[in-house]
Amino acid sequence: MGTTVYSNIKQLLTLEGVKEKDGRKITRDDLGILEAAYIVVKDGVIFETGSSKKAPKGDNNVDLSGTVVLPAFVDSHTHITYSGSRANEFEMRSEGKTYIEIAKAGGGIISTVNETRKASVDELYKKTLNNIKRMNKFGVAVIEAKSGYGLDVDTEIKQLEAISRAKKDYPFLVPTFLGAHDTPPGPGDKDKRRKDFIDVMIKDLIPAIADRKLAVFCDVFLEDGYYTREETRTILLAAKKYGILPKVHADEFTNQEGAALAAELGAASADHLPFISNKGIEALANSDTVATILPGTSFNLGLPYAPAKKMIDAGVCLAIASDFNPGSNTSPSLQLMLNIAITQTKISVAQAIAAACYGGAKALKMEKDTGILTKGAKALLQVYNAGSYNDIFYNYGENALKELILAAPVS
Ligand code: NIG
Ligand code: FE
Repeated sequence: MGTTVYSNIKQLLTLEGVKEKDGRKITRDDLGILEAAYIVVKDGVIFETGSSKKAPKGDNNVDLSGTVVLPAFVDSHTHITYSGSRANEFEMRSEGKTYIEIAKAGGGIISTVNETRKASVDELYKKTLNNIKRMNKFGVAVIEAKSGYGLDVDTEIKQLEAISRAKKDYPFLVPTFLGAHDTPPGPGDKDKRRKDFIDVMIKDLIPAIADRKLAVFCDVFLEDGYYTREETRTILLAAKKYGILPKVHADEFTNQEGAALAAELGAASADHLPFISNKGIEALANSDTVATILPGTSFNLGLPYAPAKKMIDAGVCLAIASDFNPGSNTSPSLQLMLNIAITQTKISVAQAIAAACYGGAKALKMEKDTGILTKGAKALLQVYNAGSYNDIFYNYGENALKELILAAPVS
């Protein structure tokens, strides 16, 4: 690959301080801002950064005059592998129905499950790649992708196979098994169907997924009407035994002390969190579990936001992700999610950037070399036609992304 030197960068954000502080209590000073800067990339890895006056010559030399460069975003929570559309639900919500009411009437996750069961692996693979392209346009490089629209053995595996095929074309994809997304549809008692499916997940699905290395993480939707705390614990402990790391959809519509459970289980992240308790905040602050907020979902459903500022003040490491899915958040733009987080949850621009870069990487256990642009980090860069990083968010609703550079080696 050789050496590439990117020079004359108006403003470069290395996020050096963010890394040093493990993404906690971030201020502007932690962004590692270099003006008139250069970056040397060697074999896909950041070798050096500095002031352009001293820029060395590389095998390739790229002039990035008039641009702002930051680490490419990491979107650590998405549901991009599905079939069908739920645009009708958007209209129903506009007419006053709530997300939960629509779900109880047979819409919601189950309606996407019905469509996804009918789709072929090939269709799901193409849909995944297409959604990745839609996200790349807004500066996102690393993308987590969940199953969870199958709720049976064949379709959950089919979704994970589609993600695995997409990963061959687009290596910056991280698969998560989310069998416990809802109760499988069908006749008879709902609690019995859910308990039977938990048995299937533990006895069949998790071992098969581990055996075929189809998922890095296992996630559960812990919520009233979905999976209970004890069920969540049972499923995640079973996955952990197979080396599949826990994540939790926690405290989204009601407080279930999901965040505290995530911390207790050593989960990589607790996600959603509008209804997190003080106990949950304290548990996350004292743990390595990242608080992943999904402000686009609150925005799109017209529901309360997670208390991001309170969590940051308590010392929690925050991530911002899109939750891109066919129901609760249909926007692929992580840029927009940052704007929503900044204006609605009252966090600073610096804190939002840190959360969508380092925080997202930590939520995927990749923070050692991802979401930062210090020496040794992967060369995943986003380049904006902008005068300063503030312009990206100041001019919201516009997209100033010039280029996404994905030069990192495949690991
Ligand atoms: O993260 N909360 C649970 N699951 C998704 C919703 C997926 C859907 O509505 O299809 C979420 O918001
Ligand atoms: Fe989700």
